[in-house]
Amino acid sequence: MLKKTILAATVALTAGAVWAEPQAEVLHWWTSGGEAKSVAVLMEEFAGRGGTWTDMPVAGGGGDAAMTALRARVLSGNAPTAVQLKGPAIQEWYEEGVLANINAVGVEQNWDELLPTAIADHMKCDGEYCAAPVNVHRVNWMWGNAQVLADAGLEMPTTWAEFNAAAEKLQGMGITPLAHGGQAWQDATMFESIAVGLGGAEFFQAAFVDLDEATLTSDTMVAVFDQLRTLRGFVDDDFSGRDWNLATAMVMNGEAAFQIMGDWAKGEFMAAGLEPGKDFLCAPTPGGGYLYNVDSFAMFSVEGDDKIAGQNLLAELIMGENFQEVFNLNKGSIPARLDVALDSFDYCARRSGYDMDVASGNGSLMPSYAHGMALRGAQAGAITDTVTAFFNSDMSSADAVAALATAVKNSM
Ligand code: GAL
Repeated sequence: MLKKTILAATVALTAGAVWAEPQAEVLHWWTSGGEAKSVAVLMEEFAGRGGTWTDMPVAGGGGDAAMTALRARVLSGNAPTAVQLKGPAIQEWYEEGVLANINAVGVEQNWDELLPTAIADHMKCDGEYCAAPVNVHRVNWMWGNAQVLADAGLEMPTTWAEFNAAAEKLQGMGITPLAHGGQAWQDATMFESIAVGLGGAEFFQAAFVDLDEATLTSDTMVAVFDQLRTLRGFVDDDFSGRDWNLATAMVMNGEAAFQIMGDWAKGEFMAAGLEPGKDFLCAPTPGGGYLYNVDSFAMFSVEGDDKIAGQNLLAELIMGENFQEVFNLNKGSIPARLDVALDSFDYCARRSGYDMDVASGNGSLMPSYAHGMALRGAQAGAITDTVTAFFNSDMSSADAVAALATAVKNSM
């Protein structure tokens, strides 16, 4: 009798697990050509395993609009199943008590062995996995139109002085040197790329991770703002509010020579059928350094076996070898998993992988502040507000560093 009951219970449990059809409502901001193509890989794999995906895309590069939408959903007690979320924001939501635990999947798939420690740490809440990483984007890249540069007799610049000289030459030829979209996060992307190049990793760490006041107001920071001011002179008149992928399109069609943007821009070039090294060129922004930006999905506490099954399935697929390769070939990034070879990737991705190895070896791998990897929302927002105010006015660099220090202090 007892044996029979146990048997029945086991059958019920197993059946329960099998019967819960995975469901997931997924909030993300991947709506551009390259981004949509990339997230489709996850949708297809999810459907292929019997899952039902309810898409909740919130357009807006960098994810500001998506994060506003998320806040509204959580406040109304109706969190999505899975959310594109990254860096310290994962911890901020965990502290609100609204994240689910996917540690069982992480342990079963041995994520600790498969991920670099720094990435694994971002994905853990109090030591247990609460998010799964899809990639590593490098933020400080520069993209160039190969034909435009060849016609002007230019190569990809390796110093900011070279960049400025090239831009002046292009301007003289009637070509917009720099395609830019005037949105706060895009201004911040250029700003931090200049900062790591001009100041180096230690400066970057002191300024944008440690928020050291002396560094925020240093002569080097003044020089960073000076270079941002110079870049302001290289953008066209219609830059205000332009989406980043439209700026990428300007480089594609030869309307502009360069764009400073993370390697999601490569996803756009590729989605348009263009080839790296032939149609477009990539190079780290002058001065180098490596600013990383890891996209990930965090799971929110939801009720229902089907949704929980959906979260576990998503976590399993996201860290799958095939997904990490195919997704990143489309997205422009490189896999977060250390054991996925880059053989099928182009030279930009291989350069990214190589530079990341070198940077993590010598302690110069830096988290992107502009893409939510280095700071909590309030501090990152304070810096970005100052940068944008500077970019859109004639504020002096001296005033900008003073404003920067004040804004950071007020945000604490
Ligand atoms: C970044 C994100 C990338 C890309 C980009 C533009 O913050 O990490 O995956 O989507 O925004 O939307």
